[in-house]
Amino acid sequence: MTVGFIGGSGIYESLDIEDVREERVETPYGEPSAPITIGTLAGTEIAFLPRHGRNHQYSPTEVPYRANIHALKQIGVERILSSNAVGSLREDLPPQTLVIPDQVFDRTSHRCSSFFEDGVVAHTSFAEPYCPHVASHLAACADATDATVVDEGTYVCIEGPQFSTRAESEFYRANNWDVIGMTAIPEAKLAREAELCYATVTGVTDYDVWKQDAEVTLEEVLGNAAANEQSIKQLIERAIETLPDERDCDCGQTLEGAINTPSDAIPDETR
Ligand code: ADE
Repeated sequence: MTVGFIGGSGIYESLDIEDVREERVETPYGEPSAPITIGTLAGTEIAFLPRHGRNHQYSPTEVPYRANIHALKQIGVERILSSNAVGSLREDLPPQTLVIPDQVFDRTSHRCSSFFEDGVVAHTSFAEPYCPHVASHLAACADATDATVVDEGTYVCIEGPQFSTRAESEFYRANNWDVIGMTAIPEAKLAREAELCYATVTGVTDYDVWKQDAEVTLEEVLGNAAANEQSIKQLIERAIETLPDERDCDCGQTLEGAINTPSDAIPDETR
């Protein structure tokens, strides 16, 4: 099995990977954010994509999400682990806490979030946006790190690239959402459509603007993101080392009964 990992290059570079090689993959959606780096970690093959590109050149809106998920699927990945930097919407989730969300609220507006188009309509289930098996496996690896790991929470995904206004931040808090970021969507939706397992570990970098008198600054976000790298690395490393060989969920059968276009009406070029 090859396990996919989408995240920041800092974490990947610190992982203990052997036999590293690079693969350039072309997809029907263009090139992924970067060539895929493939290597072995504790006997398991891992395929890494830096979400924002090697030089952090893709904004959250511009990340080639469809190409990234398609490329990982093309090389045989069935399960993807991911990491994201997030702001906190809760007093008791200070910077440098790790949160494994189980829900998402989608506030994005400028992203293509489906592979289905051009004559094929599919409606996939998304009530549980993360693979429950992989998410609980990540949570079970919490003791690999000294950081506090919270094993549930709602991630509100904003379009960005600007941080939120104070009114928006207070609205999200009033809804009892827990963390805020810019990249959970459409990655999770596309992974589901591609019948891949997908779960994420988020690292809190700031308290978002509901709490602070000052703005959220990139400097604060980057400083805490660097501090989170070590704990995310420890958790991801343990997760990959101990991931069971077999999938134990329904993610691989997502499309059964989900395609609403009769098969004889599907255009040849999209089959
Ligand atoms: N990523 C890290 N911190 C964030 C915040 N406060 N809002 C949105 N995305 C973030």
